[in-house]
Amino acid sequence: MPSNVIVGLQWGDEGKGKITDLLAKNSDYVIRYQGGNNSGHSIHIRNRYFVLHLVPSGVIYSGVKCIIGPGVVIDPKSLIQEIQNLESIGINTSKVFIAKRAHITMPYHRLLDKYQEEALGDKSIGTTQKGIGPTYEDKIARIGIRVLDLLNLETFYKKLKYNIDLKNKLFIKIFKKKPLIFQSIYEEYIEYAKILSDRIVDAVYEIHNAFHNKKKILFEGAQAMLLDINYGTYPYVTTSSTSTGGVCTGAGVPPHFLKNFIGITKAYCTRVGFGPFPTEIKSEICDGIRKKGNEYGATTKRPRRCGWLDLIALKYSCMINGVNCLVITKLDVLSELDIIKICVKYKYENKIIKYFPSNMKQDVKGIYIDHPGWKQDISHIHEYEDLPNNCKKYIKFIEDYLKLEVLLISVGSERNQNIIKNKSIFFRIFT
Ligand code: GDP
Ligand code: IMO
Ligand code: MG
Repeated sequence: MPSNVIVGLQWGDEGKGKITDLLAKNSDYVIRYQGGNNSGHSIHIRNRYFVLHLVPSGVIYSGVKCIIGPGVVIDPKSLIQEIQNLESIGINTSKVFIAKRAHITMPYHRLLDKYQEEALGDKSIGTTQKGIGPTYEDKIARIGIRVLDLLNLETFYKKLKYNIDLKNKLFIKIFKKKPLIFQSIYEEYIEYAKILSDRIVDAVYEIHNAFHNKKKILFEGAQAMLLDINYGTYPYVTTSSTSTGGVCTGAGVPPHFLKNFIGITKAYCTRVGFGPFPTEIKSEICDGIRKKGNEYGATTKRPRRCGWLDLIALKYSCMINGVNCLVITKLDVLSELDIIKICVKYKYENKIIKYFPSNMKQDVKGIYIDHPGWKQDISHIHEYEDLPNNCKKYIKFIEDYLKLEVLLISVGSERNQNIIKNKSIFFRIFT
């Protein structure tokens, strides 16, 4: 049974959590393949709200197996807290598993994230300060500590000792900070290992067995294309491969396992943290969108920067991710606007361009066409035909530009606030 991938097409927070939860209903597995607890994936079911950081967004269904895959970086303290929170509100987490090969975020990673950001001054990235970058740095430097190391006290002791000695030199000499105490960190992590031990699996074999047993697998992306370490707005990016290509490296599966690449975009754009944002709105319209769309970070609570839909960026994202199923979320948020702008070109170094530059700069500006608003509430609508004409024209414009049909439109945060635009394709793929 070929697998499906959910991927964010902008700068994150597109509603991946909502759509993953929706599609998890007909999945046997939901698997995270990159990122860490820098993610905040929201799910809203009737009057209940959940925000997931490391636990895959299939956890609300007790029958779905959730795997935090090998390419993810895991902060055990944060994961244990998240699991306890879910259990305390009656969510069964017994089917949440973690990959042996996943790397562990340690206290020195969180501190390094903070100190490196401070050292960058006005060039800082605006990271979540969860230690994600430094954890991946150690992984690439081949000195990282993996989940499986927690199962062997002797190995864990040696690796932690090496790392703490090294980091303490950095802390004292470069950052002029206090050193860390080995023993307390060692004991703390031994406790985490005990709590998590029953959940540790060889995820690669688990996933391959599931595939060969014709199980339905949904891979849940975190962050999004424009934050990708290779293809995003470098250096203002996260530190993993957020694109669909990241599934193969992050979950240990070959490309032919993957069939549907479900790209999620908001009907407009947002970004948290610093970095170029060609369609950013610098007027009270931004405040209006932020308020109506509740655009505050699910992990850091920071206000999100808001902007118009950027079709150049979106086309670039669809191209790299091989998107063949497009989902548009938060269309309801635009309902009060008189005019909705859509970016179709950029002004880049005094030239007009129609591609996403590899050296995206702060001063790149969007060039727009104006689209008339629909000025009516659409959050209760379930059938595409019932949408106002201007709303349908907005969707059609996007489809024509991208040469891609929209499969699903989300018109509210609640699990059922959706319009399935192409029912035959949707039910063929997701039942
Ligand atoms: P993720 O990181 O991609 O999972 O997205 P987040 O959960 O960080 O942010 C998306 C926010 O928008 C959450 O608060 C969702 O509850 C909310 N949301 C998702 N889809 C819709 C929608 O169609 N309309 C509205 N108004 N809110 C939505
Ligand atoms: P989800 O999965 C939005 C951003 C940070 C910062 C940059 C680098 O909820 O969509 P990092 O801590 O990863 O080193 O920060 O990436 N960022 C996100 N922005 N949604 C996310 O995740 C993000 N995860 C990281 O704000 O700009
Ligand atoms: Mg989010």
